[in-house]
Amino acid sequence: MRSVIDIKDLSTQEIEQIITVAEDIIKNPDKYAHKCSGKKLATLFFEPSTRTRLSFEAAMYELGGNVLSMSDAGSSSASKGESVADTAKVISCYADIIAMRHPKEGAPLVAATNASVPVINAGDGGHNHPTQTLADLLTIHREKGHFDNLTVGLCGDLKFGRTVHSLINALSRYKGINFVLISPEELKIPSYVKNEIKKCGLEYVQTKDLLEYMPKLDILYMTRVQKERFFNEEDYLRLKDSYILTPEKLATAKSDLCIMHPLPRVNEISVAVDKDPRACYFKQVLNGKFMRMALMLKLLGLED
Ligand code: CP
Repeated sequence: MRSVIDIKDLSTQEIEQIITVAEDIIKNPDKYAHKCSGKKLATLFFEPSTRTRLSFEAAMYELGGNVLSMSDAGSSSASKGESVADTAKVISCYADIIAMRHPKEGAPLVAATNASVPVINAGDGGHNHPTQTLADLLTIHREKGHFDNLTVGLCGDLKFGRTVHSLINALSRYKGINFVLISPEELKIPSYVKNEIKKCGLEYVQTKDLLEYMPKLDILYMTRVQKERFFNEEDYLRLKDSYILTPEKLATAKSDLCIMHPLPRVNEISVAVDKDPRACYFKQVLNGKFMRMALMLKLLGLED
């Protein structure tokens, strides 16, 4: 029984196999329409979500399975004090696989340790979001055709942005990746993530200046300033509009730049950019569903 709590739980070969299956699902959806017949996914979301929860649920329905959904911690027995460990044991009696989002870092790991079915981390605090990374990787694969030798700008809240932490880990496995880490001083990337880049022998620069590096970028990954992780509103209000991508700011960008954002967007990308053919953030949403389908097939042993 396998769980995926961190993108590190998947080898590079496994990630590439998941991409291959997702591509096959895109080409041959009928082949997969009954693969999960009789299986149940439980989505346990202790924090708000639109994309991740609904894409997991759409993914299971498109595989012919069923869904048990808990979208609000307040309506669950967690509000009476039930532990994550007990919740995981209980849900294992009802479902074949669990997707869990939780505001506390490590909560999905506790669930996986106690569950008797696979658990997928659907985002834990400011820590990790491995299935968003799978969505991001399929997007890069489809747009660029490769992962090597890309200059990847990550811009915004690099401190609390869990999607950035998981994506850096995944891309650090490939050769010739250059990271440009663009953030205000207060929202710089945590040291443990920088150490992962260094361990892989890759280059990175840290800067506050998006425009200086714009012409060099192959990928620009914008992120929202994570309001829910701030201790005081004043700091959030000061930092929230640090970077707003507009068509004018893209004037010096490469013609094949891939503009990404895990969404939800607040103000980091002007809606005028949506018309730009380089905007890939709504493609990421769709790609997430296919990668979650492929991941669930793998964890349920139904890949073939
Ligand atoms: N990208 C992402 O995790 O979106 P949601 O918070 O809507 O699930």
